[in-house]
Amino acid sequence: MTTEAPHSPVTRANFDEVMVPNYAPGSFIPVRGKGSRVWDQAGKEYVDLAGGIAVSSVGHAHPEVVHARTEQGGKIWHVANVLANEPAIMLAQKLCELTFAERVFFANSGAEANEAALKLARRYACDHFPKDDSPAGKLQSDKNEIISFIDSFHGRTLFTVTVGGQPKYSQGFGPALQGITHLPFNDLEAVRKQMSARTCAVIVEPVQGESGVLPATAEFLKGLRELCNEHHALLIFDEVQSGAGRTGPLYAYMNSGVTPDILTSAKGLGGGFPIGAMLTTEKIAKTFAVGVHGSTYGGNALGCAVALSVINILATPSTRANIAARTDQLRAGIRALNDKYALFTDIRASGLWFGCELIPKWHGRAKEFVKVAEKHGLMILVAGTNVIRLAPSLLITAEDIELGLKRFDAVFAEVLAAEAAAIPAAVVVA
Ligand SMILES: Cc1ncc(COP(=O)(O)O)c(C=O)c1O
Repeated sequence: MTTEAPHSPVTRANFDEVMVPNYAPGSFIPVRGKGSRVWDQAGKEYVDLAGGIAVSSVGHAHPEVVHARTEQGGKIWHVANVLANEPAIMLAQKLCELTFAERVFFANSGAEANEAALKLARRYACDHFPKDDSPAGKLQSDKNEIISFIDSFHGRTLFTVTVGGQPKYSQGFGPALQGITHLPFNDLEAVRKQMSARTCAVIVEPVQGESGVLPATAEFLKGLRELCNEHHALLIFDEVQSGAGRTGPLYAYMNSGVTPDILTSAKGLGGGFPIGAMLTTEKIAKTFAVGVHGSTYGGNALGCAVALSVINILATPSTRANIAARTDQLRAGIRALNDKYALFTDIRASGLWFGCELIPKWHGRAKEFVKVAEKHGLMILVAGTNVIRLAPSLLITAEDIELGLKRFDAVFAEVLAAEAAAIPAAVVVA
């Protein structure tokens, strides 16, 4: 597995000396990647089934993406939004061509794309349902309620943690924004009871990612669409994690039979380059008139050139075929491992995106598998504390999946052997 040992200017220990301690990264530092393989400072090789949390959609150092970055990098990186730039226009054209969208706003991350979507929804209500006809009333609306779902995740800005349905991310940052209602996911009756003329938007992940790769049912999404139509509320699909091909189609909405009013995309859209996008219709976009919202870096020429090359790869039939074939292969392999080790109660797959729910005995301990995986040259993720999550490159090869599964086998064997060794013999005999 070890191929080289280049000189390392810094160590993992240096991280703890200089970084704000809000992350607890693994024990190795990756320095190079190619496709779905990664090498650390010591030259040790890893199979990457984590994909940088569903970001490395076309793998590491894809030649076309490297070429796009190098080419644009040698031309012009940034002009800010006081000027237009060619890559941003071309990427927006591409997104409009491939989706329901007629207008695009670029941001730098998923949270910022959602922040834009949520602000747009409230401002749209002011435009179309103002409090009164006075100039001040036109910038206020009683239609300001945002409905979101328990366990949802929409980012880490103050607005998006407040809208997200995981209180641990918003606690301690009060006073919180008002007018946000959290309801149970996939419970259409709860939404029906809550929704009113006061509701300006419903925001939903078509597949909840951070809470364990949990799909919304088709009836739920269809019902949300109908309720939003009935109450003149905007339907926002947060496809930051489910988008850019992760579930199979370019965006998950395409297989749901439901078209949102606003869709947010990030993560896999840039394949590792920070970019976010908010997609919407011409009518809704009008609310963001000149000066109403903005971002210095949003629509940056370099980022848009990279994202355009990523989207061009993602939109090919061969990528889609690979997603389907590798999903089947990975699903079959994990099921076979589960037959051997009986660690999961549920193996959920939405395209190349897996949530493997640990049996109750292992609840709270998903992270332990990540640590042992590192030792065996395997990069995996968790979602919460009970689910092992996988989100590899959508171009991952059959060979890399095979090797990943082989290493998974070794990980499960080691974790279970360590557990057995930790149990006193008396208990085992009893
Ligand atoms: C569904 C969803 N929305 C928003 C975000 C936030 O994206 P970012 O971390 O790029 O701000 C994430 C990140 O995990 C996500 O999964």
